Amino acid sequence: MNAPVSPDPASAAWTTPLDQLDPSHPALFQTHGMWPYFERLRREAPVHYSTTSPFFGPYWSVTTYKDIMTVEVNHKVFSSDSGFGGISIRDRPKDLRLPMFIAMDPPRHDEQRKVVQPIVAPGNLAKLEGIIRERVCRILDGLPRGETFNWVEHVSIELTVQMLATLFDFPFEDRRRLSFWSDCATMPIEAGGYVTSEEKREEVFAEVLAYFTELWNQRVNAEPRPDLISMMAHGEATRNMTPREFLGNLILLIVGGNDTTRNSISGGLLFLNRNPEEYAKLRANPALIESMVPEIIRYQTPLAHMRRTAVEDFELGGQRIRAGDKVVMWYISGNRDPAAIEDPERFIIDRKRPRQHLSFGFGIHRCVGNRLAELQLKILWEEILRRFPVIEVVGEPKRVYSSFVHGITELPVRIPA
Ligand code: HEM
Repeated sequence: MNAPVSPDPASAAWTTPLDQLDPSHPALFQTHGMWPYFERLRREAPVHYSTTSPFFGPYWSVTTYKDIMTVEVNHKVFSSDSGFGGISIRDRPKDLRLPMFIAMDPPRHDEQRKVVQPIVAPGNLAKLEGIIRERVCRILDGLPRGETFNWVEHVSIELTVQMLATLFDFPFEDRRRLSFWSDCATMPIEAGGYVTSEEKREEVFAEVLAYFTELWNQRVNAEPRPDLISMMAHGEATRNMTPREFLGNLILLIVGGNDTTRNSISGGLLFLNRNPEEYAKLRANPALIESMVPEIIRYQTPLAHMRRTAVEDFELGGQRIRAGDKVVMWYISGNRDPAAIEDPERFIIDRKRPRQHLSFGFGIHRCVGNRLAELQLKILWEEILRRFPVIEVVGEPKRVYSSFVHGITELPVRIPA
């Protein structure tokens, strides 16, 4: 990791002049130093313009729950279109931008979203429930006892890629490629990982496209089936996609189904360990899983932000946002906004309104997979409680270098023998 880490992010958050404050540095998220930045912004400049980012250029930060909702519902003013820069704070080079329906505005967005939506219809979720449970049981029963292992690797990644392989009807033995591709798609170049340049990322994307084009070709001439590739191959709004658009939507579904649920699985175990009274409450009453699952998703906020671009001037929180400006909705901050959520800094598994959070976004782009993600977490925790009175976190988590994916790469745990 080449990027500088502030030696004392907490104090920099409060001492840096407001007009130089930049909460977007990926290193802040890796060290969890971003919290005081957002606390200060919510208090002193809830809609804030930053010009000092070394990576992302000038951008607006929207940090309160209420203002984030305003941006979300005004999708005619705040565009998601990849032509303007899409949905992440980082601008990709113009010729390398990927069209995908999360980065489109109506009507194209709505038409393409409709094609894949049935994958999470209640009837299909009911069918998936049995498959998820069987896989969860197999993963949990195979875990080592009495020794330290990485929960992220053995459980969070394994469960989410198995699920994704099912949704795509993707060759099961190659399923780990899905998490590799997902990581490559979101990894910042300066993080010093496998993707060291945009060219390298494009090489990986070419591999994704080649692999999935074969699956598409098998399915396009066969009867429609309820998997995401077949749905897109037969869907009216998607069957004539360009290869680049097919790739874009694949990356959307791979990342959407992977990083997010994975990090909620890891986060949940960490939060329970850090809040033993909540863990005890859960053991005494497993029915609390129902409200705990959305609380985990709020508390983790697996995607720290979504970005929009203003297409006309707009007044927000007393600030004048101009047409063409980049606007970042910091869900991670809105989810800790005391004006909207009581005692937001605390992890409380029996909140009265646990689904009142921003982790899935809101409005026309609200997460397609939200019920599926909740279902996976619910089944996982039901089966964990049936087997293990406790799973101990025995070391500090290692976190992702990113201000987009808010995630954990390593979580050392131990299940007593
Ligand atoms: C969109 C979060 C799981 C597929 C989104 C958005 C967020 C999000 C923040 C954008 C919302 C907005 O702009 O208003 C999450 C979280 C998850 C999760 C926190 C797990 C805890 C999943 C899963 C899938 C999925 C399991 C797929 C199987 C999608 C898709 C979109 C989306 C396709 C684009 C929707 C659109 O543009 O209309 N998700 N997601 N997500 N998510 Fe998820």
